[in-house]
Amino acid sequence: MAQILDGKKVSSDIRSEIKSAVSAFIAKGEPVPGLAVIIVGDDPASKVYVSQKKKNAEEVGFHSEEIKLPHNASRNQIISEIQRLNNNSAIHGILVQMPLPDQSDQQAVIEAISPRKDVDAFHPVNQGKFLIGIDSFLPCTPAGVIELLKRYLVEISGKKALVIGRSNIVGKPMSLLLLRENATVTIAHSKTKNLESEISDSDIVVAALGKPHAIKGEWLKKGAVVVDVGMHRIDDPNAPKGTKLVGDIDYGNYTDKLAWYSPVPGGVGPMTIAMLLSNTLKARNDLCRKTV
Ligand code: GUN
Repeated sequence: MAQILDGKKVSSDIRSEIKSAVSAFIAKGEPVPGLAVIIVGDDPASKVYVSQKKKNAEEVGFHSEEIKLPHNASRNQIISEIQRLNNNSAIHGILVQMPLPDQSDQQAVIEAISPRKDVDAFHPVNQGKFLIGIDSFLPCTPAGVIELLKRYLVEISGKKALVIGRSNIVGKPMSLLLLRENATVTIAHSKTKNLESEISDSDIVVAALGKPHAIKGEWLKKGAVVVDVGMHRIDDPNAPKGTKLVGDIDYGNYTDKLAWYSPVPGGVGPMTIAMLLSNTLKARNDLCRKTV
């Protein structure tokens, strides 16, 4: 019988640990971590994500700011908000919710964030540090996957790991983090031949291809550890609201043969926010240390 990688529980444990650290700062009269989230336009999914980030930041006692900019905000407007936050000593973490309405500005906006406040770890300075293994922020979703596996003492070292998807936010950094944990890593993508046989040969599978139920439970190896990063809302006439959340994996009746698996919802999703909070705490500690 497979065991569940319960991201809801683990993220709640991490948030409690962060909350204790914040209480200690307050008791000593020291600054609490401050997180600013910038949202441009009114994409409904982005609004949900941003409100969850703000709510979680407030629950652990962080100072939290949400900056809402209109859909037609210019690149300079966004960058001048970022510069204001770069210079604000009460803010230690800055996040710009992606995607931006005008995707062409995305890279310039990312690069305007001070690398020391880049809690998403999207800035090229942090990506470069991460690539060569220098202390840096880790991208939230892949770091959340590793943390989830570690908290359940799942062995990664020496295992054959398959990452499905090669995005800059998840697939690429996920493969690097698994490599750092001494897995033998393969990256599968849209041009991979025989995905099914790659999957059936892998001890650890991380699905981050962004297609609902694209991976079938029957393809997974007996005793595999499986993590589903996908998150899709699909129609379901039997669900109370007519829709439901599903991942990239259709486990079907095949969970019994697995060693560990992460569900959707309640798997990786809550871990991403926990890692964002953890990066913000790290930013606060690094910045406060530097100013002493
Ligand atoms: N959009 C989808 N995922 C993310 C994320 O991790 N960070 C930001 N800033 N935007 C996103």
